[in-house]
Amino acid sequence: MPKNKTPSLAIWLLFLGLLWFDSFPGLEAAAGKLSSIPGLYVFGDSLVDAGNNNYLPISIAKANYPRNGVDFPKKKATGRFSNGKNAADVIAEKFGLPLPPPYRSLKGPLKDKKRESAALTGVNFASGGAGIFNSSDRKHGQSIPLSHQVDDWLSIHDEVTGQIRPAEAQVHLSKSLFIVVIGSNDLFDYYGSFKMREKNDPRQYTQSMADKLKEQMKRIYKTGARRFLVVGVAQIGCIPGNRDTDSDLHECDEEANRSCSLYNEALVKMLQQLKQELRNSMSYSYFDNFKSLQDINSNPARYGFTNVTSACCGSGKLNAAMHCQLIAKCCPDRTKYLFWDRFGHPTEAASRTFVDLMLSNDSQFSSPLSLTQLVSS
Ligand SMILES: *[C@@H]1O[C@H](CO)[C@@H](O)[C@H](O)[C@H]1NC(C)=O
Ligand SMILES: *[C@@H]1O[C@H](CO)[C@@H](O)[C@H](O)[C@H]1NC(C)=O
Ligand SMILES: *[C@@H]1O[C@H](CO)[C@@H](O)[C@H](O)[C@H]1NC(C)=O
Ligand SMILES: *[C@@H]1O[C@H](CO)[C@@H](O)[C@H](O)[C@H]1NC(C)=O
Repeated sequence: MPKNKTPSLAIWLLFLGLLWFDSFPGLEAAAGKLSSIPGLYVFGDSLVDAGNNNYLPISIAKANYPRNGVDFPKKKATGRFSNGKNAADVIAEKFGLPLPPPYRSLKGPLKDKKRESAALTGVNFASGGAGIFNSSDRKHGQSIPLSHQVDDWLSIHDEVTGQIRPAEAQVHLSKSLFIVVIGSNDLFDYYGSFKMREKNDPRQYTQSMADKLKEQMKRIYKTGARRFLVVGVAQIGCIPGNRDTDSDLHECDEEANRSCSLYNEALVKMLQQLKQELRNSMSYSYFDNFKSLQDINSNPARYGFTNVTSACCGSGKLNAAMHCQLIAKCCPDRTKYLFWDRFGHPTEAASRTFVDLMLSNDSQFSSPLSLTQLVSS
């Protein structure tokens, strides 16, 4: 991490999940013709959190205040780390499903009806700041780590099997889409801690991330899930807060970029092995977020963006000196910016672009299947 440039960034990033998505224009043509999925279940960090952290009493990793949500229906700050919808929401829309509500919003005695219906159409378990490992933010109540998100899924799974007959439930679960967007916070933890770096070299650490993710995916698989969309980590060296603000070129942080590549390599291998171990009884689409961000960075106009270096909402150089809040500067045309805030959360326009790329059958970005192929397999 760029300790020399932005010493406090790693600390902030500990608490906020970062991941990206991208998509591409060709996608609109495909919309409406997509095979159906009965339900959408979302695991991950702030790239897909829809408001779970609002329910964590002492977490500071929240986004339920303006100007977040400025382009969300009713201009509502829901807890999403964006001006509008995130990639998981956009995927739900593409498949004609309701936006999966945050799991935590479904708890409590008066929520029975809402929980029953969401259990079947989809629930979002993601939490800003969450990692694959429990890590420090778990201890400090800042976020809901992946293992705990999977625990939450088990209770929704009980709800599903309580509502429909076993044979139906099996079909429902095997056709539903399970999205996993996580890993950036574990990388931030690693680069922010001398102790962790002393104990493991980057290769060992990123391998153990992939191993741990495999365990959690197996737990989800055991409940009947068969279709997974797994998103790799993006180039965290290229988010506004990690770029070089002292040079006119605003270069990306290469070291941060490299750690992302290492993890993605381990992730791709892990997924191949997992599928083999499960005798091909699961299928997945791995989306290469790193490559998609690189492509957008090098061809912004092709994707309709004019600004791919600065945050839309913030202040100071690259609008990345301060986080996005009520008194921050907010760019007037949010559809032209790739990044919403200094942490590199995508704007809604960027999330739509990422999802378009996921749905396009471009093997540069998805392997072994695109999202479209995954849901028609
Ligand atoms: C992480 O937390 C879960 C419960 O939320 C626990 O079961 C698990 O053992 C923890 N893992 C580690 C490595 O501490
Ligand atoms: C990020 O760094 C990697 C090398 O670590 C480089 O290949 C890549 O081009 C960088 N990304 C951008 C957008 O400059
Ligand atoms: C990108 O946005 C920032 C902040 O709004 C602005 O200062 C900068 O000039 C913009 N760059 C381009 C290339 O439009
Ligand atoms: C992608 O592949 C699927 C299945 O092979 C096909 O039905 C669909 O038309 C393709 N979509 C695009 C945009 O090429």
